[in-house]
Amino acid sequence: MSKIGIFYGSTSGITEEIAQKLRVLFGEQLCDIYSMEEDFDEYGQLLDYDYLLLGCSTWGAGEVQNDWREPLFEMELEKPDFTGKTIALFGAGDQVSHGQDFVSALGTLYQHFQKLGATLVGDYPTDGYDFKHSNALHDGKFVGLPIDEINQSELTEERINQWVESLRPVFIGSN
Ligand SMILES: Cc1cc2nc3c(=O)[nH]c(=O)nc-3n(C[C@H](O)[C@H](O)[C@H](O)COP(=O)(O)O)c2cc1C
Repeated sequence: MSKIGIFYGSTSGITEEIAQKLRVLFGEQLCDIYSMEEDFDEYGQLLDYDYLLLGCSTWGAGEVQNDWREPLFEMELEKPDFTGKTIALFGAGDQVSHGQDFVSALGTLYQHFQKLGATLVGDYPTDGYDFKHSNALHDGKFVGLPIDEINQSELTEERINQWVESLRPVFIGSN
């Protein structure tokens, strides 16, 4: 069974908490978990896995979390081949104070890894969210799992569970 690589960038710890929950739900023995700040040295670590869960919160005005900046820049230059890799995205944001760019970092990661040949899975419906704009929309859905722990913490567990169930056949069923 192929292992799942969970890589997350998180400034105040929200996306980190989501990452830890995902690890438990997919099975701790099946998942390796990496903080982009503490455990990440080079993008070759991503290429060690065929199945990836990538977490990134949104900062600035729709920017990726700080620890993802340099790796994304390097990959843009060197264009490693992610063909055959299956990737699902998740990340925290704030749809009230930052509703102009809600979880837009997920859109940046989506475009980035799609260009490098990866198969992106794990889209999520917009029902129940209320925001003005997001770069993380594709065909009317979010390109990954958005968590708004600041305004809708009561929905977090249900959202994570629903997302994991939708991914289970891809990440574990055929894995
Ligand atoms: C200065 C600042 C800028 C932010 N910009 C955005 C943004 O553009 N879009 C968004 O959805 N959330 C934005 N947020 C909210 C964070 O993404 C949110 O607090 C999130 O929970 C942080 O997750 P983390 O702890 O995993 O980094 C911003 C927060 C701050 C303080």
